Amino acid sequence: MCSIIGYIGNRDVAQILLDGLSRLEYRGYDSAGIAGIQCEEISVVKRLGRVKNLSDAIDESVKFDGIGIGHTRWATHGSVSLENAHPHLSFHGIFSLVHNGVIENYESIKHFLVEKGYEFYSETDTEVLVNLIEYHFKKETSLENKFLVSVQKALLHVRGTYGIAVLCKHSPGEMVVARKSSPLLIGIGDNEMFIASDACAIVAHTHNVVYLNDGELASITQSDFSVVTMKNEKIDAVKCELDWRIEDVSRGEHEHFMLKEICEQPVALQNAMRGRFSDDLSTAKFGGLRLSPRELRQVDRILFCACGTAWHACLIAEYLIEKYARIPVEVAYSSEFRYSNAPLEKNTLVFVISQSGETLDSFAALQEAKRKGYRTLAITNVVGSTIARESEGGIYQHSGPEIGVASTKAFTAQVCVAAMLALLLGRLRDMSFDDGVAFVQALLQLPEKVSKILEKKDEIRLIAEKYAHHEDMLFLGRQSMFPVALEGALKLKEISYIHAEGYPAAEIKHGPIALISGKCPCFFLATQRNTLQKTLSNILEVKARNAMVIAVVAEGSKIPPGCTDDLIVVPETHDALEPILATIPLQLFAYYIAKARGCDIDKPRNLAKSVTVE
Ligand code: M6R
Repeated sequence: MCSIIGYIGNRDVAQILLDGLSRLEYRGYDSAGIAGIQCEEISVVKRLGRVKNLSDAIDESVKFDGIGIGHTRWATHGSVSLENAHPHLSFHGIFSLVHNGVIENYESIKHFLVEKGYEFYSETDTEVLVNLIEYHFKKETSLENKFLVSVQKALLHVRGTYGIAVLCKHSPGEMVVARKSSPLLIGIGDNEMFIASDACAIVAHTHNVVYLNDGELASITQSDFSVVTMKNEKIDAVKCELDWRIEDVSRGEHEHFMLKEICEQPVALQNAMRGRFSDDLSTAKFGGLRLSPRELRQVDRILFCACGTAWHACLIAEYLIEKYARIPVEVAYSSEFRYSNAPLEKNTLVFVISQSGETLDSFAALQEAKRKGYRTLAITNVVGSTIARESEGGIYQHSGPEIGVASTKAFTAQVCVAAMLALLLGRLRDMSFDDGVAFVQALLQLPEKVSKILEKKDEIRLIAEKYAHHEDMLFLGRQSMFPVALEGALKLKEISYIHAEGYPAAEIKHGPIALISGKCPCFFLATQRNTLQKTLSNILEVKARNAMVIAVVAEGSKIPPGCTDDLIVVPETHDALEPILATIPLQLFAYYIAKARGCDIDKPRNLAKSVTVE
């Protein structure tokens, strides 16, 4: 969603903020703005749209005195307008604030402040907060820590979520930051400090970071920082080392992050597996689960919660774990689970899957499961993210930063981890040593097979260009290919704005077949040998109704001539890993269609990476 950045130091403040914002832009691109202290006043520059518009507006007249904050917005409260863009300024111009999150009780606070004579220029919840801070500052008599105390007092009245950074013109060398359910980290440089909602904004400058926890505030100067609770108790902050490199957050030779990340999948899969097999290569191991084999044996049921693409990975995990470990699995949308009060069996293990580890609904689902006393684990990509830290154990995907809004390498890594989990749980139950060894061998061969599919990029591009003018498409598959079909449809709709649906291939007879005509191509996922004949019948059913058919099949499959219009052949693999291989052509298909349609692939309309609002 929104993103925030801050800097205190001797370098060109505006430039550092703009660089950080352009790296964070994937979290929101409705507007962008920066604020800094200049000649003892707070100066703000904002523009609608992309960070580029903001940087075009910055000239020599913008010279902040060693401190500044910045923001990219994904609109929640109030339309996309300059007034609603951040940073917001308080009524008397004493404070400026950037905010990621939602202040739920902003209307009652606004009402209170209006009665005290405050006037507002925007429709945002954020402007209410900056004025509440100013109100407390003006009331506060003590001189010690007056800035920090005013922020604390204001936040005590706030209901909702926030990651904030605040400037005060009466304390020009200090920045106050705070968080509740929205990510925030402090980057410690050499006589300079950074703050950001996401590590990728500061990785070019420092690898030394402190992640703020919920309910913590920090007062930061150029050379030091201190972290306190809302009750002003001092916290010993834990410093961590970022393991990302600047190349990881750059597009390199690729035109889009999405294509770069699709191409990174062989390495991402290797990283997901590294050091995670037993010495005899017959099973998987995950130290981070913090569960003994005996405890894992006692699990009667698993519940997976996630959103979007990660939810599709959960659906595949359900097929794999039920098939190979014979443990019943349920999958819930995090946003539904958190309010459903669903009954859970006693020995249920709850897994949350989230690439960012910051998705608010998934975090809330985790908290709800924890509150009910269930053991909660997470599969996340971002080390140190909220969900990773709040769960009782988990598995890092190690996919490297994913910047493209459309999730690609994170998805296949999640499925790979799910397959390894199915292997581990299966081997703890009835899976034989030989079957375990065959499973591990197939996993080890996976990166090379993915590379082989990536070599077909141009072939898939030509197919995509042929279908780019269509406005509707169906994606169809059976069993574990059904979630892959859902993922193919999601990829296409989110970056090309083509209406697409994923369906179990045999189900279309019960309704969706009414949509079939020459105008609605069907994309079949038909790599599974055991259901191939059935899927071929489904292909013929749509062909008989004039649909164009594209199919992904495994090498060596016998496909009768004329059955399909376009065929993409992928290498054969273990049943459990077919969803991973079948996904790659779908990602490339969606990418090249979006490109042919001239869409903004890395920043699709209305979307943002990491959804930190409900
Ligand atoms: O960071 P998360 O995995 O929790 O994100 C979940 C969804 O928001 C995400 O997968 C979204 O659906 C992507 N845009 C899909 O490409």
